[in-house]
Amino acid sequence: MALNLSALGQKVGPLAKEYSWKDVVLYALGVGAGFSDLDYCYENKLKVIPSFSIAAIFDILAQIGLKSEVNLAGILHGEQELIFHNPIPPEGTLTTEGKIAHYYDKGQDKGALVIGESDTWHSNGQKLFTSICTIFSRLDGGFGGENAPRTTVTFPDRDPDYIVDEQPSEDQPLIYRLSGDIFSLHVDPQFAKASGFEKPIMHGLCTHGFACRVLIDKLIPGQPEKARRMVCRFTKTLYPGVPIQTQIWKTGDGQALWRTVNGETGDIVIDNGIFEYGEIPVMQIRFDDRVAIVTGAGAGLGRAYALELGRRGAKVVVNDLGGARDGSGEGSSSPADEVVAEIENLGGSAVANYDNVATAAGGENIVKSALDAFGRVDILINNAGILRDKSFVKMDPGNWQAVLDVHLNGAYHVTKPAFEIMKANGYGRIIMTTSAAGLYGNFGQTNYSAAKMGLVGLMNTLKLEGQKYDVKVNTIAPIAASRLTEDVLPPDFFDKLKPEFVVPMALYLCSEGCPVTGNIYNAGMGFYNRAAVFTGPGAVLTQDDAPPSVENIQKALKNVATVDGAREYFQLNEQVGDVLTAFTAPPPASSDAAKGFANAAAVFDAMAGAFDAGAAAGVDVVFQYNIAGDLGGDWSCTIKDGACTVAPGQHESPVCTLKMEAGDFLTMMNGTLPAMQAYTSGKLKIEGDIMKSQLIEKLFKF
Ligand code: NAI
Repeated sequence: MALNLSALGQKVGPLAKEYSWKDVVLYALGVGAGFSDLDYCYENKLKVIPSFSIAAIFDILAQIGLKSEVNLAGILHGEQELIFHNPIPPEGTLTTEGKIAHYYDKGQDKGALVIGESDTWHSNGQKLFTSICTIFSRLDGGFGGENAPRTTVTFPDRDPDYIVDEQPSEDQPLIYRLSGDIFSLHVDPQFAKASGFEKPIMHGLCTHGFACRVLIDKLIPGQPEKARRMVCRFTKTLYPGVPIQTQIWKTGDGQALWRTVNGETGDIVIDNGIFEYGEIPVMQIRFDDRVAIVTGAGAGLGRAYALELGRRGAKVVVNDLGGARDGSGEGSSSPADEVVAEIENLGGSAVANYDNVATAAGGENIVKSALDAFGRVDILINNAGILRDKSFVKMDPGNWQAVLDVHLNGAYHVTKPAFEIMKANGYGRIIMTTSAAGLYGNFGQTNYSAAKMGLVGLMNTLKLEGQKYDVKVNTIAPIAASRLTEDVLPPDFFDKLKPEFVVPMALYLCSEGCPVTGNIYNAGMGFYNRAAVFTGPGAVLTQDDAPPSVENIQKALKNVATVDGAREYFQLNEQVGDVLTAFTAPPPASSDAAKGFANAAAVFDAMAGAFDAGAAAGVDVVFQYNIAGDLGGDWSCTIKDGACTVAPGQHESPVCTLKMEAGDFLTMMNGTLPAMQAYTSGKLKIEGDIMKSQLIEKLFKF
């Protein structure tokens, strides 16, 4: 099997991984830490060995291998570079996104290199590290690609500054593998023998972890957070229990070279090691070459966003109609002009626009201003707003409509043309502005609350439509003193209520590194938190498929209403999945129900026989199955005119693509993993028209 050349440049992930202090300690124990490095092993003031990073993203490395379709029989971890941007917290969720960055061809019998690059963010919003991993694939050379550029590391012609001898235990891989790499080669004596080794071998990354610990101990003792970069090449295998020696040369300020040798034979097992260390360089978040539109930027929050965007290099379209607080009046060009002048005085670049967001033509024109002046649109902050407060009984249609027109329809009018451009460019950051009044309710603001909550709905779906194009859509619920709030916020707090306290949150959500989409943040006075919709676990109240009675609801309300164990959904399908799972009978306890498919091919052989033509009236769909792994393969299944055709390979235009690991697929098809559970747990990935996939259970009776 040759490398999948079309996977080059393809995105891998995002993959999320939750971890706790126990994972951190387990890793530390796996790379030889103990009482002599208690900071790595004791949850009280726990520090994380930076090389934990690569163990924690092992799944992404596996995905890179699978996507590139390397011949698994001949792969080795060739090289590894880690760039540390921020210290790794002892717990949280890591989100990793990567791509297959390069293929290099060393020649027909010499193999190929697959380079995977990824970035990992923590749930605290910080980018933690970048990994550049080289997979050496012995059996995939000769595809006609270019060879890798040569990299050489020249060690000083003198004794190392530090030599550290260590003794990994005979059982070291048994501990290390619990951090993610459970490949049989490191645990199964028979597998190891079949692969040409005397017995299971050490994980290269385990020895790498030993080295990382030693480098920190000698160069930045007690301060793992100062590790900045670690590079190496894995050159030889090592058996557990064999002593190792890490040799370190200091070569400059904050720089060292290192390698690890087999203490018995003197063979170099890890070579070309580079280690850089020092304080975290302060990286300013910049918006150079980005074009931002801020609506309602002539005053209040919008003005503050526009100024800071300009200060940080963005080219800004300052939109403001210049009307009254309630949206009445002729409007004026001066608020927008004044903010443009302020940005220019700061050395920035901006243009004014005086259009009304409440009309489609206004929205088009605002986006046109950006294109005319700067040629593109990268950032849109939907901020323009008015107020027309009245208790509901006094809320006449005019006041209702005017507020919806500016806030909700206004965001639609500007976002629509801006989104089209962002989609075409493959990049965009959009901010909606909601309000605590919408999220939680506020007397006298039914119109405003409805509009502000409508913006949340707009974000919820737009985030999905933008996901593929790196268009992230988030929402801010600000609190700041402005003419909108001058009569409702306590004057005592006015100093802290400056819009400048909201700006950092809004601008971070506009930044390139922003890791989130579909989030809502309250921001103001220096206090920031996330607001989210959570859904309770609920209860099934039907009996023999009959609807429950009203009295049943009364009786069960406690169970229906509870939010204990509530879940946050990213999209509708996840919620539907949970509803359907609630009805799914638990998997059979014994394997009696197993249908015994030994591989995916057997499933697809049986597929036409399992097809229920009676259920297929009017169905016209192509399902593509991509089942990864040795027992998998690609098949398409076309349902048309009441007939089912199963064909091996990739269909040109499937309606819906189902992707799964072969093991999970067989568990599902053998009846012990409900399809919905497979989907909601992420084992089954569905692309294309997800709703159509729900036909499968109806169409096939295995
Ligand atoms: P502001 O009144 O100081 O600024 C709003 C700006 O929008 C004004 O300059 C106004 O001329 C402009 N504008 C109004 N209608 C427009 C239209 N149709 N087209 C173009 N521009 C228009 O108000 P503030 O407080 O800065 O509000 C900004 C946003 O933040 C609004 O969406 C508001 O609802 C929201 N918000 C503000 C809160 C706060 O505490 N200030 C609380 C919650 C939400």
